[in-house]
Amino acid sequence: MMKRPRIFLTGANGQAGFEIWQALAPLADISAFKGPHDRVAAIPAETLDLCDAAALEQAIRQVKPDLIINPAAYTAVDKAESEQDKAFLVNATAPGVIGRVAREVGAAVVHFSTDYVYSGEGTSPYHEDERIAPINVYGQSKWQGESNLMASGAASITLRTSWVYGVYGHNFVKTMLKLGRERETLKIVNDQHGAPTSARTLANFVQHLVQLGRTHGFPATFSVHQGVYHLTDRGCTHWQAFATEIFRIARSYGVDLAVKEVDGCPSSDYPTPAKRPRNSRLSLTRIEESFGFQPPRWQDALAAMMAPLLGL
Ligand SMILES: NC(=O)c1ccc[n+]([C@@H]2O[C@H](COP(=O)([O-])OP(=O)(O)OC[C@H]3O[C@@H](n4cnc5c(N)ncnc54)[C@H](OP(=O)(O)O)[C@@H]3O)[C@@H](O)[C@H]2O)c1
Repeated sequence: MMKRPRIFLTGANGQAGFEIWQALAPLADISAFKGPHDRVAAIPAETLDLCDAAALEQAIRQVKPDLIINPAAYTAVDKAESEQDKAFLVNATAPGVIGRVAREVGAAVVHFSTDYVYSGEGTSPYHEDERIAPINVYGQSKWQGESNLMASGAASITLRTSWVYGVYGHNFVKTMLKLGRERETLKIVNDQHGAPTSARTLANFVQHLVQLGRTHGFPATFSVHQGVYHLTDRGCTHWQAFATEIFRIARSYGVDLAVKEVDGCPSSDYPTPAKRPRNSRLSLTRIEESFGFQPPRWQDALAAMMAPLLGL
């Protein structure tokens, strides 16, 4: 078995990046990089702007990693409609650069993508090979990123996930906990369906990949499993029911909330610059069959994350 693999981690300041760092720190030597935005870093990380392709290439060559993990992304879905160039540099160009340099230095790549690559039509879960038809700029940029990585020829695994929340960063759970303390009545969208996903589930799977890589070698493991996989927590809900579950679990921890009613409404009640898919259900069959990895029920993953989210 390989001793401690060298890992190049982007987006270490983000929801997934933070959890991945936590999960891998005992197993690997991690060179962690955070984005250029002026935020206090949750973990020791150097600044690296993924819009700067030359700096990205130089940083990877310096680290000479066994594995590059790329959860960094331009994730401001509405802002992407007016900042298309920036969204494409981070979400599309950078994964292509990562892939090319990874192939040259012999590193494998774990990349993250999104349910937003699909159109969101229908009601059944999407399979990985279904038609790609993003309905907003963010989704288009993420799809281009997947394609650029794939075209680079690097040994890579891309994980399409949905509705991510974690302890570190902004997310729906934190917004609901804040609103639930302030307001008695809330009106939440109930016509978009998908699976909330704990950043910890993403980190647990990446840890599983690192264990496989240590045992069988990184390029070998990633060449065998090369491709795109869905990875979300198990089950399906809509935002109104997700909010209701957040409040139920928070109360079970003794949190005093003002909220009494959580009403449902259509997405059209909250117009946004970017369209959202109605159906974000993602089939988990491929990841379960290929890796024997069983994500937890979304309610259980949420309950497990609630204490740290509440700062308990
Ligand atoms: N959040 C979701 O609901 C969701 C849903 C589906 C798929 N995904 C995908 O899952 C992955 C992880 O998402 P997440 O929720 O962890 O994202 P996140 O919390 O928004 O974190 C994104 C990270 O990317 C970094 N970043 C942004 N622009 C950068 C740049 N120019 N150079 C370097 N770093 C930059 C940010 O750095 P700063 O600290 O400087 O801002 C941040 O650390 C992403 O690929 C995302 O597209 C997320």
